[in-house]
Amino acid sequence: MIAIGSDHGGYALKQEIMAYLESQGVSYRDYGCYSEESCDYPDIAAAVCSAINGGDCEKGILICGTGIGISIAANKIKGIRAALCSDYYSAKYTRLHNDANILCLGGRTIGPGSACELVQVFLTTEFEGGRHQRRVDKITALENTRE
Ligand code: RB5
Repeated sequence: MIAIGSDHGGYALKQEIMAYLESQGVSYRDYGCYSEESCDYPDIAAAVCSAINGGDCEKGILICGTGIGISIAANKIKGIRAALCSDYYSAKYTRLHNDANILCLGGRTIGPGSACELVQVFLTTEFEGGRHQRRVDKITALENTRE
């Protein structure tokens, strides 16, 4: 199960991505927002991260206008590795090397065709492990660092 969420700035792209997921037979749950009315992206990030950390969903997709605010918000939450991507290579390697569990996209910065390709490679690429596991473990250790 994939968790998906956006603010108003990502709403239109989210509709395109949900249609793409349906066409591919990928199950997803939409954690809002549900219209183009203005809302706050940290609330959406929190809902999607909670679905992942609670075990309801394995991975997530978060979209705001630039993808920046919603990725900053998501990365504040323990256990979350949210990667803002706008190119295919990054969307692939953030799975291979970072074991990213959320793909962030900018609804106002990329078109639906590219976005769906990023979603496709993100959802189908497995983490490589090995030396990258050590680095991901070090990222996790930083979650408790205050200075
Ligand atoms: C909302 O206008 C916009 O600030 C938001 O979607 C996002 O781009 C923030 O990073």
